[in-house]
Formats: sequence, C-alpha cells, structure tokens
Amino acid sequence: MKGNRTKLASVTRRLVTEIYGRLDYEALGPVYCYEGGDEFWRAKRGPCDRLGSRVAVALKKKLERGGRSLYVGAGVAELPTLIMETVELSRTVEPYNLRRAEVTVLNRACHSIPLTFRLADAASAKGRFDHLWIVSVLNDPERFPHLSPLSYGRGNPLTLDPLKFGKERRIVRALVARCMGTLARPGLVTTTTEEILWIAEWCHRHRVPYRVGKRNYPTALVGDPICFIHIGRVEKNGRVKRLK
Ligand SMILES: C[S@@+](CC[C@H](N)C(=O)[O-])C[C@H]1O[C@@H](n2cnc3c(N)ncnc32)[C@H](O)[C@@H]1O
Repeated sequence: MKGNRTKLASVTRRLVTEIYGRLDYEALGPVYCYEGGDEFWRAKRGPCDRLGSRVAVALKKKLERGGRSLYVGAGVAELPTLIMETVELSRTVEPYNLRRAEVTVLNRACHSIPLTFRLADAASAKGRFDHLWIVSVLNDPERFPHLSPLSYGRGNPLTLDPLKFGKERRIVRALVARCMGTLARPGLVTTTTEEILWIAEWCHRHRVPYRVGKRNYPTALVGDPICFIHIGRVEKNGRVKRLK
C-alpha cells in the first residue's frame, strides 16, 4: 500500500476502531487492575487508540516496508502500531506476551487480520529483525518488584534487597542481550525513557553506536513516555535503512 507518511491510512483507522470495539474488556479487567476493570477500560480505551495511533504515525516514517518487528510484552496499547505495520508497510510482526488471558482476548479480537500474539518468552524469537519494540517491560513492577522502583528513581536504601535486585538485573540484562542480538544494523528500538539505559548499556558493551531520538510520545496505560533509539549506522534524516 502506497501512502501518506503523515497520517494513518483509512483502512488502518477502520481496523483499529473495529478491533478496540471487539475486545472483551471484562476479561481484560483483571489483567490490568486488581479492581475496577470496567471503569479503567472506559477511561483508557479512547486514549489507547489515540496515543497509540500517534506513535504508529511516527513509526511509519521510520520503518521500511517488508521488514520484521519483534514486539516484547505487546498488549492492548500496541494494537495501532501492530496494525499499521502489518496493513500499511506489509511488515511481519511478532508480538510476545506472557499473560495468557490477555493473549487469548487479543487473538480472538484480531482473528480477521494476520496478527497473532504469542504466549511465549520473546527471548525465544528466531531470525533477524530490523525493529525491536520493548515498552514498559524492563521496569515492570509486577515482574521486577525489586528493580522497578530504581528505574523510576524511587529506590529505598532501607528496604532494597541487593540479592533479589541483582537477580532481577541479570534477568533484564539477559532479555536485552537476546533481543538486541536479533536486531539488524542499522536497526530501530522503540522503548520508554525509563528503559533507555538498558539498551544504551548493551550498545556501550558491544561498541555499537546509537542515537536516542529527541521526541517523546505519551502512552495511555503504563504512562511511561515512548522514544526511539537508532542503532548502528543511521541516516541523516533518522530513517533506518532497509534490511539487506
Ligand atoms: C507492564 S506490561 C506492559 C504492556 C504494554 N507494553 C503496555 O505498555 O501497556 C509488561 C508486559 O511484558 C510482558 N513480558 C515481560 N517479560 C516478557 C518476555 N520475556 N517475553 C514476552 N513478554 C514479556 C508481560 O507479560 C506483560 O504483558
């Protein structure tokens, strides 16, 4: 599909609206909140679509057609970008998520398009990707309760358990190493401002040049702002060159 790089195509808009309308919010309630799921989704559904679509437009300008994207921890908020990549750029997307209930709901809602969420560790992804999406995963308080507060600058020296923190940091570094190891160069990472340091650390250790984009994009669910990191050789306009 040829298209306008400054907005989403009408087919994408229609599919995004259709799929947000088809999600089983009752089943999603307990995935995202301990209580008040109905109210949460009434408030968040619109912003997920609106803010997700804004990131999708930005991403559309940066990615080439026909590449592959690895999505780590992709959920409801990632629908606009996943749909845009699939429908408008004819790219292959591999979204991974460890929450069974969310994966079931998403796959049911997406049955009409070639988009399948995988209930698996993203570290098991095979092959080369030219785009890695890893948003609010490495600082997730549910999965990393001892590391997450430090990522948000809220560490408490009195209660920090250094052994548990060290174990979680090893898991995060291993996941970053696996995912970054699959990334072609030049490549693009979409992440949050709180997670930049993990990607930057990997780049420094492997002597890979990187550039963090200046713009941040607000998000609807977790609330961590999204940014782009260009990895390897980067064109002047910030575009990532096609995979060879
Ligand atoms: C805090 S949620 C963020 C969800 C979504 N990215 C967002 O911003 O709304 C973290 C997600 O990462 C997923 N996750 C964590 N580690 C993962 C891994 N190794 N492979 C795949 N998914 C992972 C969890 O299952 C969860 O769905």
